[in-house]
Amino acid sequence: MARTHGASLTMAMAVMLAVAVALLVAQTGAELTQVEHTPKTEGSLAILAIGDWGRRGQFNQTLVAEQMGVVGEKMDIDFVISTGDNFYDDGIANTSDPLFTESFTNIYTADGLQKPWYIVLGNHDYTGNALAQQDPAIRDVDSRYNSVNKSFIKHGVDIYLNGHDHCLQRITSADSPLQLLTSGGGSKAWAGKFKATSDKLEFLYDGQGFMSMLLSTTDAELAFYDVTGTVLHNWAINKTASADGL
Ligand SMILES: *[C@@H]1O[C@H](CO)[C@@H](O)[C@H](O)[C@H]1NC(C)=O
Ligand SMILES: *[C@@H]1O[C@H](CO)[C@@H](O)[C@H](O)[C@H]1NC(C)=O
Ligand SMILES: *[C@@H]1O[C@H](CO)[C@@H](O)[C@H](O)[C@H]1NC(C)=O
Ligand SMILES: *[C@@H]1O[C@H](CO)[C@@H](O)[C@H](O)[C@H]1NC(C)=O
Repeated sequence: MARTHGASLTMAMAVMLAVAVALLVAQTGAELTQVEHTPKTEGSLAILAIGDWGRRGQFNQTLVAEQMGVVGEKMDIDFVISTGDNFYDDGIANTSDPLFTESFTNIYTADGLQKPWYIVLGNHDYTGNALAQQDPAIRDVDSRYNSVNKSFIKHGVDIYLNGHDHCLQRITSADSPLQLLTSGGGSKAWAGKFKATSDKLEFLYDGQGFMSMLLSTTDAELAFYDVTGTVLHNWAINKTASADGL
């Protein structure tokens, strides 16, 4: 399958349904620090996920950002997850690199996106100065930017989310409740590089877009959107109805 080589795992996120939803940050694999994000009063969390985006607005990054703003406002999101490859082609050079504001602050300007962004680094970020994105000083430039090394939302893995592949995709298995999701459509699309081979591929869109997740203790509602904000594919997961017992 497209998403099996090692590099993608290092930048991947596992997102799980939760009672108390928390981002768990794996430092070097062994130790976990926990970034709590308090759910809304009714116990649900609304999240957008985007990957592979920072190109100074080019390759439809700006259009995708606008539609994220529309959906973000409508869902009253709690935060945004970035799956990595945040700045092309080589990350940022330092915390005052203008590429940061030109590709992040000045692009994701919608009211609905003025929320914390939990950011994972991708291979393109590591070919630049990865530490600059993890430097707390970056938050003086834009306070939304929370860089995490690797993250999970508690507990019991239901959803595994990654970027890197420039597309939107959903892979499931009949014999496992785990859903593998790619949200890597933040700007330049793959445009035909992908060859589908897996029988477990539920959905693939070789173009730009993003995804949303509405998570509660028992239910998840997920959707992929294209550059115009049209829902391409949506589905729900119901923990109470499934037998995997988390
Ligand atoms: C941007 O999106 C439009 C659809 O709204 C598409 O026709 C166009 O090819 C996209 N541009 C790029 C550079 O991908
Ligand atoms: C930060 O990076 C930018 C872009 O490479 C460069 O122009 C600038 O001189 C750098 N600033 C510092 C303080 O190193
Ligand atoms: C991520 O890992 C690197 C290398 O181990 C470390 O220097 C950095 O402080 C970590 N960043 C965060 C936000 O935990
Ligand atoms: C999930 O399943 C439970 C029990 O079968 C049901 O009460 C609930 O309405 C379902 N939720 C959704 C969103 O389908």
